[in-house]
Amino acid sequence: MNLLDRINARQFNVAVVGLGYVGLPLAVEFAKAGITTHGIDVDPRKVESLAAGKNYIQDISDDLVADVIGRGLLSATSDFSVVADADVIYICVPTPFTPNKEPDISYILQAAESIAKHLRGGQCIILKSTTFPNTTEGYVQPILERDGKKVGIDFHLAFSPERIDPGNKTWHTTNTPIVVGGVTRECTVVAAAANRVIIEKVIEVSGPKVAEMEKLLENIFRSVNIALVNELAQLCDRMGGVNIWEVVEAAATKPFGFMPFFPGPGIGGHCILIDPYYLSWLAREHDFVTNFITLAAEVNESMPYYVQRMVLQHIAHLPVALKDAKILVFGVAFKRDVDDLRHSPALKVMELLTQDGAGRINYIDPFIPKIEIFGKTMNALDYSDELVAEADLVLITTDHTLFDYERIVANAKVVIDTRNATRKVAAGREKIHLLGDGQCIR
Ligand SMILES: NC(=O)c1ccc[n+]([C@@H]2O[C@H](COP(=O)([O-])OP(=O)(O)OC[C@H]3O[C@@H](n4cnc5c(N)ncnc54)[C@H](O)[C@@H]3O)[C@@H](O)[C@H]2O)c1
Repeated sequence: MNLLDRINARQFNVAVVGLGYVGLPLAVEFAKAGITTHGIDVDPRKVESLAAGKNYIQDISDDLVADVIGRGLLSATSDFSVVADADVIYICVPTPFTPNKEPDISYILQAAESIAKHLRGGQCIILKSTTFPNTTEGYVQPILERDGKKVGIDFHLAFSPERIDPGNKTWHTTNTPIVVGGVTRECTVVAAAANRVIIEKVIEVSGPKVAEMEKLLENIFRSVNIALVNELAQLCDRMGGVNIWEVVEAAATKPFGFMPFFPGPGIGGHCILIDPYYLSWLAREHDFVTNFITLAAEVNESMPYYVQRMVLQHIAHLPVALKDAKILVFGVAFKRDVDDLRHSPALKVMELLTQDGAGRINYIDPFIPKIEIFGKTMNALDYSDELVAEADLVLITTDHTLFDYERIVANAKVVIDTRNATRKVAAGREKIHLLGDGQCIR
C-alpha cells in the first residue's frame, strides 16, 4: 500500500517535532484518533512531563493526555531515531526573530537536519512553523535531499500553517480549517489527507509559497487593523470627547465590510508581533519596502510607551512620588485567559515604569506565577480587596475573564483600563480611565 492509501486506511504513524503550543495539541489529536504518535522535543522537561502522563498546555485536557500516553498512543522523546518509524512528520518548532527583528529559522533548520538523518524514504514531512515564503523549498528541501533522496519521488514535503488560537473556546485544532501546499501535486494530496484525519476542513493550494504567504497575510491583516484602531484611540484621547470603544462598537453594527478590532497596550505573543517582520525582511531582498507592515509595527510597538505616559500622567496628579506610588497591575499574560508571557506588552509597561523610577509595582495574574523585570524576580500576588484599596493606581493590562472587575473598581482609587475590561461595571465609573476614551491624554 502506498502512503496515501495507508493514511486513508488509518494505517500510519505520526511524529511531531516540537511539543509546544502548536505541536502538543496536534500530537494529542492524532493519538486521540487512534494514530500512534511520537512526540519529539529537545526540551527534556517537556519530554519528562509527558512521559509521566502530565500535560503542560492549558487548552488540552489533563485526562486526555494521561489517557493517550497510558494507552501508548502518544510517546515523547528527544531521540530523533523514532522518525524512521513515522510516516508523516510534522515540524512545529519556534520561529522567533533576532534582537534586530530579522527572521531566525535556525530551529527549523536544526529540526530538518535531525529528521534528515533518520529519513527512510516514502514519508511525508509537513512544516507548520510560521515562516517566510520559500522556507520549505529553499531551505528545508535541500537538507532533506542532501543524501540523494528526491522530493516527490522518495519523500513528500508540504507547508501547512498552524492557526491555533490558545484560549479560544470555540475554534480549536480540529474545527479550524487549515491550508496546505505541497512541493508537488502528490505532496499536497498526501499532506492534505494526513491533515484530514484530524481536521474537518483542509484547503489545498498550489504550493508551499502560497501557504507560507497566506499565513503571513493572516497575521499582517491583524497587525495592521490593530494598529489602525490603536492610532485612532490615541487620536480620540488627543481630541477629547470621543470614545474609541463606542466608535468601534457602533461601526461593528454594519453587517458587511467591517470587522471590529480593539485597541490595547500593544501586541505580544509568538505570532502577530513577530511574523510580519519575516515578510518585510524578505521584501528588502527584492528592493521592496512593505510600508503597511512597518507602519503597523511602529504604532503597535509604541502602545506600551503610550500606556507608560498615561500612568505617569495620573501619578503626577497624586500626592505621592512615583518611587513611592503603589501601582497594582492586573494581567501580565500577553492576552486574555492564557498563560503565555512571550513578548507581553504588560511586561514592557512594567519595565518602562521601573526605568522611570517606579519602585512599588506589583501584579496579579493567576496564569503567571512569576515574572522577571530586569533580572529581578517578582511573584504574583493573590487578590485581596485590601491590596486594591491600598494601591495608588490600578492598571489593567490583560483582561482575564476571571478577574472581578466590579470588585476591583469598587475598591480602587484610580483604574487605568487599557482593554475596556471594566465596560460592564456600573458603579464607580468616575474612577476609570480607559485607553482611547477621549479623556486620558490631552
Ligand atoms: N502559539 C501559537 O498560538 C501559534 C499559532 C500559530 C502558529 N504558531 C507558530 O507555530 C510555531 C511553534 O510555535 P509554538 O507556540 O508552538 O512554540 P513553542 O515554543 O511553544 O514550542 C516549540 C517547541 O519546539 C521545541 N524545539 C525547538 N527546537 C527543536 C528541535 N530542533 N527539535 C525538536 N524540538 C524543538 C521547543 O523545545 C518547544 O517545546 C511557530 O512558528 C509559531 O509562529 C504558533
